[in-house]
Amino acid sequence: MTRVCGEIKVPGDKSISHRALIFASLADGVSTIRNFLAADDCLATMHAMQAMGADIALNGTTLTVRGMGMGGLKCPTQVLDVRNSGTSARLLLGVLAAQDFEVQITGDDSLRRRPMKRVIEPLEKMGAKFTSSSGDVLPVRVLRKDRPLEGIHYRTPLASAQVKSAILLAGMYAEGSTSVEEPHGSRDHTENMMAHLGLPIKRAGLTTTIEKVTKIPAFQCDVPGDISSAAFFIVLALIVPDSELVLKNVGLNPTRTGFLKVLQRMGADIKILNQNMDSFEPFGDLLVRSSFLTGTDILAEEIPSLIDEIPVLAVAAAKAEGLSRIQGAEDLRQKESDRLQALASNLKNMGVNVLEKKDGLEIKGQKDFSSARVRSFGDHRIAMAMEIAKKAAQNEIQIDNTDCVNISFPQFYELLRDVLE
Ligand code: S3P
Repeated sequence: MTRVCGEIKVPGDKSISHRALIFASLADGVSTIRNFLAADDCLATMHAMQAMGADIALNGTTLTVRGMGMGGLKCPTQVLDVRNSGTSARLLLGVLAAQDFEVQITGDDSLRRRPMKRVIEPLEKMGAKFTSSSGDVLPVRVLRKDRPLEGIHYRTPLASAQVKSAILLAGMYAEGSTSVEEPHGSRDHTENMMAHLGLPIKRAGLTTTIEKVTKIPAFQCDVPGDISSAAFFIVLALIVPDSELVLKNVGLNPTRTGFLKVLQRMGADIKILNQNMDSFEPFGDLLVRSSFLTGTDILAEEIPSLIDEIPVLAVAAAKAEGLSRIQGAEDLRQKESDRLQALASNLKNMGVNVLEKKDGLEIKGQKDFSSARVRSFGDHRIAMAMEIAKKAAQNEIQIDNTDCVNISFPQFYELLRDVLE
């Protein structure tokens, strides 16, 4: 077997790239976003903002955005199609809810199956109006409303950064205060960006409040590397023997590092170097060495901090000694694919002893995977997780349709070649 070594830099964080682009488009003046993630999902947000008049130039990974000001977005001439990007759809619904024009938003087959009620419901409470011919899924038409949005206090039934962000974005336009209270803390990049821009945001425990905003200043920012992309390489270096890998400039926002904590609990040798906590989003380098992993229990309250890393954590669990249990993760069934079902069926094909539960998985680790054909289900994170399993397996694993990696990580295969010796 080959080993994994070297030093890599994963591309910019997807969640932060979406948000930086949205705030820059609503700002007054020219903003510069460096290390922007130029992958399909963030490009979907970029095209939507361009369709509403923002002047955006992408040069490599540097994005220059001439914002339209908070009230300057123009009615797009066509339906906004955000393809596979749930973050674009949900965050933009928050912005569109506050505009004075009617607009329709849609997505690809996978996104048109994903629930939008979770954002539509609170936005309606604020006074926004929507129609959807197919229930609470895209395509959704955002209707013109008769009065400005009004602030609400909303308790989200589940911890979702997309829902929280949609409400906070709409809250910038609403009369009075808008607050969101979550059952567990989800990623807080919207809040960090609002604070960085000097917007009137307050945080108390699990409640975030935004007051009406009149103006967003233009800004400059550096997007840290995406820990969710780094996750694939971290697990690869852990499970391939004799490996040592350095990942530079990885985002270390505490609402996103649950994955590192769980792996460390499983025995992973991961060290954080050169940590920088002063930036609007913390970041640092990671040194990862092959490790003997043991099974663990991942609890419901940990899920928001590692929600996107579960596919590759399942691969780590499948290589660990003993049983791992993932609980409280039913929302994984509503992602780009039903990730619980996708993981259970793929791991079973690879000979792993896995039990699919309503809200999670039970995985019994083993030394190797049997030869198998597995499926990506058109889901970028399932495709990449399976690719990591394949690289760590002695037997042949074939994966169908891996083009979907471009949704979040177009450089995935190139970096994989770089680190395998
Ligand atoms: C995201 C939030 C998470 C995550 C998604 C990105 C975001 O979704 O799974 O990939 O940028 O806000 P939920 O809000 O549905 O948990």
